[in-house]
Amino acid sequence: MSIDQLGIELGPNYREHGIIGYSEKISEVVAIAKTVAPTGLSVLISGESGTGKEIFAQLIHDLSDRKNNKFIPINCGAIPEGLIENELFGHEKGSFTSANDKSKGYFEMADRGTIFLDEIGELPLSSQVKLLRVLENGTFMKVGGSTNVKVDVRVIAATNKNLPKMVSKSSFREDLFFRLKAVTLQLPSLKERLVDIPLFLMKFSADSAKKYRRDQLIFDKDALSEIMNHHWKGNIRELKNFIDMLTVMETGKTVSGEIIRKYLKTEHTASYLPMLIHDEPQKDTDLIFKTLLEIKSDLNLIKKFILETYSSKQPQIHYRDEIKEIIDPEREIVPTEELSEKDEIIMTLKKHRGNRRKAAEELNLSERTLYRKIEKYGIVI
Ligand SMILES: Nc1ncnc2c1ncn2[C@@H]1O[C@H](COP(=O)(O)OP(=O)(O)OP(=O)(O)O)[C@@H](O)[C@H]1O
Ligand SMILES: [Mg+2]
Repeated sequence: MSIDQLGIELGPNYREHGIIGYSEKISEVVAIAKTVAPTGLSVLISGESGTGKEIFAQLIHDLSDRKNNKFIPINCGAIPEGLIENELFGHEKGSFTSANDKSKGYFEMADRGTIFLDEIGELPLSSQVKLLRVLENGTFMKVGGSTNVKVDVRVIAATNKNLPKMVSKSSFREDLFFRLKAVTLQLPSLKERLVDIPLFLMKFSADSAKKYRRDQLIFDKDALSEIMNHHWKGNIRELKNFIDMLTVMETGKTVSGEIIRKYLKTEHTASYLPMLIHDEPQKDTDLIFKTLLEIKSDLNLIKKFILETYSSKQPQIHYRDEIKEIIDPEREIVPTEELSEKDEIIMTLKKHRGNRRKAAEELNLSERTLYRKIEKYGIVI
């Protein structure tokens, strides 16, 4: 089947907006997105992991009069806490030892465009105050600055956390929550839109066949019913990865219920499914971005020591030791009770092939806490 024919089968939400699905729930969300898009209002998108929050943020931007300006997606959970204000709002020259130039943050870069703050629940309280101010009057101060910078940026935020609960625990500011939730898009989970599953199968199996140069799979009734009855905790993303895996493993076959059962025997075995080692591009970019930020932060520290070495009369050997301490991952003397935590983190990271998001989930930690521990223990996977 050609993609054009496929486009017709996938219905108007897909043809007009690239959104697969004709269920009532998703059509309602598309309608709200279309209504709010041109207004410039800030929007809060909530929904389980993998339900399409980023896709909808992009759609709102594309349907607004900001569409020719930047859309900047930022994963708040992937930026180390100490760097987030610098990244979002930029800094003035001299605001810290190695800040030789002033820098623009994402808010300035996105001027007249849209910023998508993913995992907003991970934004530290101190940055939440600044964000509220930008939302209220479009102004902020750079790190180390004393004058207001004015920008015209639309904010779209997303979360898979329960923000009201975070508000009640004082880990998310109530005023920011009320400001953000004025327009809320609640994305349905896959189990709330089962009728859309056949469309996803059609599209994803066509895409996977093209991507991996395999023959496209066909699903029989029994297979379809198995897939529809399975609980896809990772929603659309998990289903998409599953179809990728099936396309490679069972190329060109008519997929029966038995084949599906083989891979989805129980919740438990499902986590040991053969996995294709490609993650969502966005997740890869997050990791690369996070690593670059860490390198940048280390470089700043090294620069600081080098500058101080040159401007100091003390013998340089003294500083060499300090520099070595910064770059030597073994620098910490790890207390014994922490060793087991370190080992556990290493093992879990290895199990998930370095995927920090999955490891954090298994360890029952937030991604930010895991990043902190990885830094603390100097873990390199
Ligand atoms: N309606 C849709 N039509 C087509 N593809 C979709 C749709 N919704 C989601 N997807 C696909 O599912 C995957 C997950 O989508 P997305 O990244 O937007 O989810 P998310 O809610 O932001 O997930 P997370 O909470 O993990 O960040 C992506 O590959 C996206 O292309
Ligand atoms: Mg997302």
